[in-house]
Amino acid sequence: MKSSKRLFGKTSDGREVYAYTITNGKISAEILDFGATLRSIYVPDKNGNTADVTVGYDDFAPYETSTAYEGKTVGRYANRLSGGRFEIDGREYNVEKNENGVTCLHGGGEFSFNFWKAENFSDSTVTFSYESEDGAFGFPGKMDAAVTFTVTERNGIEIRYRASADKDTIINFTNHTYFNLAGKGDILCHLLKINANAFTPTDKMNIPTGEIKSVASTPMDFREFKVIGRDIGSDYEQLVNAGGYDHNFCLIGEKGQMRAVAEAYDTVSGRRMTVYTDLPGVQLYTGNFIERRTGKGGRENYKNCGFCLETQYYPDTPNQKNFPQCTFRAGEEYKSATVFEFSAD
Ligand code: BGC
Repeated sequence: MKSSKRLFGKTSDGREVYAYTITNGKISAEILDFGATLRSIYVPDKNGNTADVTVGYDDFAPYETSTAYEGKTVGRYANRLSGGRFEIDGREYNVEKNENGVTCLHGGGEFSFNFWKAENFSDSTVTFSYESEDGAFGFPGKMDAAVTFTVTERNGIEIRYRASADKDTIINFTNHTYFNLAGKGDILCHLLKINANAFTPTDKMNIPTGEIKSVASTPMDFREFKVIGRDIGSDYEQLVNAGGYDHNFCLIGEKGQMRAVAEAYDTVSGRRMTVYTDLPGVQLYTGNFIERRTGKGGRENYKNCGFCLETQYYPDTPNQKNFPQCTFRAGEEYKSATVFEFSAD
């Protein structure tokens, strides 16, 4: 197996979208230059049968508009900013309020719905770079960002981010891949473990209340393996408000230190995924708002057909002073890595 590049489709205004496939000879991943979108990951099951373990589409069109952010690289500030605003040193910045005209979600979509430039493409790795203008979507500072996808020897998809801006700004990147280790159906029977003793409860607008709450004796407890569907329908305000899991978990371990933070397992295929990151949080999102439509290879996409583990700084960081902060000074480098590692047993 070798890396390859192919024309994947065209935007509605005729620009060509390319897909880059990288591989280590055992697993492979395909990334689009539009949105630096991780479109597929092919992984063998316990019998050696390979399937795509991500949710997405055969054609480009949905990737141009889908608000579910399938596979997208998300920046400059992933997740929500309450009131679409924040302050740095007392100066207020008003950014895109792309969610009901009230909150900013996923930085307004800038990094997810624009072209990135592919660089350093080889068998197992590809880098995409993007330049965001000073003031784009309301954020301060011209930013140079790059994301490198690498298929590791240990069957991981490593995603390495690097960014800096020429003014003080906030930086929070994530990847929005929906995983389904069975390669079909829904994910309610997947087992999941998250190394978090606490989570950040949210209000009806999905904005953190500021509380850091213990997961003990709540349906948010994933400290031991639990079937995702077990408690998802509980009469627990947090789950009712969000229509399922859509919450940030406060990861055990030091920010900046790479460690295993979550593991998912599908008992039928035997596929297992371990997530490593150096970030302080992870958003478990169970695809609560996915609209029913035809996905890859005729597969139906619908509510709970995949789950995201979006490694991140906690949501609404700059407006929540007790959360680990992600304000980066002019010229200061943001660097972070997340690995989704696969095996089968
Ligand atoms: C958010 C969800 C949102 C989804 C797609 C997730 O990161 O937490 O609330 O629906 O992204 O935009």
